[in-house]
Amino acid sequence: MRQFIEGLPKVELHLHIEGTLEPELMFELANRNGIEIPYSSPQQIRQAYQFHNLQSFLDIYYQGANVLITEQDFFDLTWAYLQKCQQDNVLHTEIFFDPQTHTNRGIAFATVVNGIHRALQKGQQELAISSHLIMCFLRHLSQQSALETLQQALPHKDKIIGVGLDSSELGNPPQKFAQVFQQAIKEGFLTVAHAGEEGPSSHIQDAMTLLGVSRIDHGVRCVDDPKLMQILQVLKMPLTVCPLSNIKLKVFDSMQEHNVVELLHQGLCVTINSDDPAYFGGYMTDNFHQIALTHPIESKELAQFTRNAIDASFASDDRKQDLIRHLEGYLVQCIQ
Ligand code: ADE
Ligand code: ZN
Repeated sequence: MRQFIEGLPKVELHLHIEGTLEPELMFELANRNGIEIPYSSPQQIRQAYQFHNLQSFLDIYYQGANVLITEQDFFDLTWAYLQKCQQDNVLHTEIFFDPQTHTNRGIAFATVVNGIHRALQKGQQELAISSHLIMCFLRHLSQQSALETLQQALPHKDKIIGVGLDSSELGNPPQKFAQVFQQAIKEGFLTVAHAGEEGPSSHIQDAMTLLGVSRIDHGVRCVDDPKLMQILQVLKMPLTVCPLSNIKLKVFDSMQEHNVVELLHQGLCVTINSDDPAYFGGYMTDNFHQIALTHPIESKELAQFTRNAIDASFASDDRKQDLIRHLEGYLVQCIQ
């Protein structure tokens, strides 16, 4: 099964680039930039990654991002992630970045976006990995701050396909950001939002009606509302689910109790993703594998996660066709 999963063509739709900062690179960048970090080795950093909820993770995660200073740092971070994509046979990826985490420390918006974008171009040219970039607003900050961030993004429209909403869900509902999302849609951005990760299922409904989202990030709490489940089925609203993340942040007590396979069986457009792989212990292959180890699931159902992700992606129709051809080719080769 592991071998099938390793070779399976994959599409990632929920990945925070700051969450791919491996302890070794964090150390290297801290040294390069003369930044003090409260750890003496990469092993010590890994030991500190014990989380009891989303907030306890976010506190450590924002601290880790402090080592990212120059355009080259953002390039190196993104390039390291793309190499993981190549290993895991991820053919297309849609990447979140959190500009406010950096601009609030005095790093220019252009430094962040240009570094990431340059690595993505190289990934397309040298690794044939297609990609899009989605800018997330931090929901623990104000809507005013999000509006200012949207203004900063306008000169970089050609590099950013959409906007999203992440960070602390509890106490920061979708309606807090209705105006900035309306504005972003007017500017031509697609929209997505984290909802129903730690927060209630009503956040999923509100993200659809108030933020006009094309996808829900996480969304696993949808099972609390049978009517919402029907709406998600009928609309084929994609949910970008992140199994290892949900276990590390205690959204579920164990992988056996994770509901992604149940959601798949109920006909929802669910996908598997890695969220913040450097913090949660695994990239795409590991996420697929953990689900396969703990649930009775067939190869064709694992392939369905990729089919759903192709459908749900913001790739062009031509690229979607191409991705389907890769997937079908692989499945045919596996039965021979
Ligand atoms: N930022 C990075 N990872 C996140 C997650 N899982 N939920 C909310 N915000 C995040
Ligand atoms: Zn996330």
